[in-house]
Amino acid sequence: MPILPTLEGLHSAESLDRAFLEAFYGRVEELLAHPEDFSGALAGRLVGLVFEEPSTRTRVSFQAAVERLGGDALVVAGAEATSRAKGESLADMARVLGSYVDLLVWRHSADGASRLVARHAGVPVVNAGDGRLGHPTQTLLDLTLLHRRLGALEGRVVGLLGDLRHGRTARSLAWGLAVERASVLLLPGAGLEWEPAFEQRLVDRFGLRVRQVVHPLIRAWTGRDEARLLAPPGIEQPALFPGACDGLERLDALYLTRLQDERGARPGRGGYPGVTTAQLRDPLLAHTLLLHPLPRRDELPAELDDDPRMVAFEQAALGPTVRMAVLLSMLRPDAWPLPSLAPLPAGQPEPGLGACVNPNCVVRAEGLATPWRVVGGKRRRFLCALCDSQLPVDYVGCRTTSRVHPVHSQAAQRISPENLRPFRDREEAVAAGFAWGG
Ligand code: CP
Repeated sequence: MPILPTLEGLHSAESLDRAFLEAFYGRVEELLAHPEDFSGALAGRLVGLVFEEPSTRTRVSFQAAVERLGGDALVVAGAEATSRAKGESLADMARVLGSYVDLLVWRHSADGASRLVARHAGVPVVNAGDGRLGHPTQTLLDLTLLHRRLGALEGRVVGLLGDLRHGRTARSLAWGLAVERASVLLLPGAGLEWEPAFEQRLVDRFGLRVRQVVHPLIRAWTGRDEARLLAPPGIEQPALFPGACDGLERLDALYLTRLQDERGARPGRGGYPGVTTAQLRDPLLAHTLLLHPLPRRDELPAELDDDPRMVAFEQAALGPTVRMAVLLSMLRPDAWPLPSLAPLPAGQPEPGLGACVNPNCVVRAEGLATPWRVVGGKRRRFLCALCDSQLPVDYVGCRTTSRVHPVHSQAAQRISPENLRPFRDREEAVAAGFAWGG
């Protein structure tokens, strides 16, 4: 069975690369400088905005973007207003709506929903936020703001503060910052760290160095003396002594996030971290930009709004322009092309793998077989193609030889990706007609 094709659209910050980002920043500047040049760019085009979760900024800024470009937007806000309330599957709804419009923008509460929509829609799909997983147009917005304020991001240090476990914006931005060779300082609230497997994938993909750094503000924010700094190779030197900590001397930007209590998040002991007027007098923060995807709560108090370091509303104001650039790249590449996004594989369903390990994966919500994809070179990992969770695969078979091998063996490494068939255990492989080794 052949590997399924790649997914059309923008589903993850994992699709970004430096060539795309450089060109993207340039397109945003063109749009800001000469909006009149783009006023009819989407004439005759219909964009569907499907928001199955609440949204102010993303939904309205996409609608503003479509209309500023001369197109029409068809807005579906709230799953309860659709036949999803009558039990219609996400796949069926995607297929139907995809036959009505030229592009779909979709927000959903389950991890991987936009990729599932893209498998069925027949038109490009843009992820407007799916569960805890991704919010790539927010990442483009965040990176554009940082780039406009700081210039090249290589070597910059950006802190991610708050709910890293349930928040999609911080997770998505971490990937974008790694693409830009910026360092990422992890400042999760107590009990709100992201999964080690996600960080390991980021570290492996970009060859990041992980250092422990200390600063009194780190204790105030996280309740711990030290925090992990993920730094690109060649930017930060490893500590002189293994296990040693360095003082944190630089923080170019701090990205605050709210507690995602709609996803079951609860503040840990000591409360939820944020910034205060007193903290902003610390020399470390003298020039630190304060970003927030919004909406905010107490973590970024309104009394800081007049501080020149507070840029969250400037960030939000870029939303329509950033989304105009995204729409142009997908619907008018003839006139306004951007370098191709790295495609995400659609994955291949494998009923034998069982349900995805992630309880919030859209595969579980929709009762589907888990489609898998493979990443890594010598040390392959099998991921859910929809939510990126690592699947429990200990053996792989070769479809052409019908032999099965331990996943990290040399024989397994020689199997080309299109011939791989993953198994959780050896017995399952034998039951499927695969012979051992050879
Ligand atoms: N930043 C963001 O996604 O905001 P909304 O939830 O209001 O769209």
